[in-house]
Amino acid sequence: MKGVVVMGVTGSVAAYRAADVARDLMRAGFEVRVCLSRGAAEFVTATLFEALTGNPALTDAFDEPKPGRMAHIDWARDADVLLVCPASANALARLAAGRSEDMFSTIAVASTAPLVVAPAMNPEMFSHEATQQNLKALRDRGAIVVEPTEGDVACGEHGQGKLAPTQVIVEATLQAAMRSDLYRGTRVVVTAGPTAEPLDPVRILTNRSSGKMGYAIARAAIQMGAEVVLITGPTCLTPPPRADTRRVETASEMLTSALNACQNADLFVAAAAVADFTPKEPRSDKIRRDGDLTVELAPTQDIVATVAEKFPELVVCGFAAEVSEVEAAARAKLEKKGLSAIAANDVSRSDIGFDSDDNEVTVLFRDGSKIEIPRSSKLVVAMRLLEALRPLMAPPGKN
Ligand code: PMT
Repeated sequence: MKGVVVMGVTGSVAAYRAADVARDLMRAGFEVRVCLSRGAAEFVTATLFEALTGNPALTDAFDEPKPGRMAHIDWARDADVLLVCPASANALARLAAGRSEDMFSTIAVASTAPLVVAPAMNPEMFSHEATQQNLKALRDRGAIVVEPTEGDVACGEHGQGKLAPTQVIVEATLQAAMRSDLYRGTRVVVTAGPTAEPLDPVRILTNRSSGKMGYAIARAAIQMGAEVVLITGPTCLTPPPRADTRRVETASEMLTSALNACQNADLFVAAAAVADFTPKEPRSDKIRRDGDLTVELAPTQDIVATVAEKFPELVVCGFAAEVSEVEAAARAKLEKKGLSAIAANDVSRSDIGFDSDDNEVTVLFRDGSKIEIPRSSKLVVAMRLLEALRPLMAPPGKN
């Protein structure tokens, strides 16, 4: 069996086509469990999906098919993929806002499984700014959107709003299931955020990294089934709940933590902006403006290069923060640090790189090949990066 698809059927005329999608998902090897929204129940019945899937179809947030068990938690944990088909404008709004108003939207908030949405609605409703913003919010969180096609819709109007073909929806669900399994059984170590090098008891030398990129990699790796150690410098972010988070301040503490965590790891991703130099001797007293203002700096040890040298079997991916000649500078770092791959980003741009919600990277590999990951949310960039790195690692079952 390929896994469990929890399928939300919501209020759209296309709800009748959800039966075909459920049946083809089962033919593709999935167990399918259906939740109907109140709107969907105006078009189709729970009995139809129960007969097709062999599982109870839930219609109310408080439906509990197993006495004493909470279905919204059990189904959220069992789900390998969440699929909304068809997704009404209202369902997209609920999912984007995280509003748990019916069984499916409650499961969606309780689950880390990848989400696939297949919208179907009137073309005006689909192109409305609110709907498009909700779709963007879902995409930014890693959801796969199966675009509706153009044609005559049930209300007699013409435009983009028809539910995509069944085969396309089944393929997107398969893709999501593969993604959620890609790192199962692996251990991934990620560094994130800046380091803070003490100048004196009250001042530090640091940089503009927010930690968003590294935290997104940790989150994406968890969603793909990995066990994750997140080594983080000081940030204002909340770490993903299932990460083993280790907090450090200085480059030297980050090095110790990384060497420790990488002992039984399969992949090390160094997204942290580590200080290249640190005060040679931090002052024990506050630096006074009328005192000696000269600070002598010493280079820090290179964490990613040290890890790559010490663990030659480990797949090691660095990041290159560049402002000019981005690709050439990144390739030089890849060679010099002995890395398996490096993700180059242009940190002179304000729309990507440091502190922004989006990024755009070119991933360079040791064999000379490269892939471009276009501008998207840091979570989506993280997912695409992890997909690109997986073939460098041992195949599943050999970890
Ligand atoms: O945190 P955000 O605000 O989301 O921003 C993301 C980011 C821009 C910080 C991230 O995408 C990024 O580019 N991280 C690497 C920053 C960096 O230090 O780049 P670098 O080109 O100076 O270093 C190259 C590589 O060597 C990096 O993997 C770095 O972690 C590593 N390094 C550097 C110095 C050092 N002493 N030890 C290291 O391991």
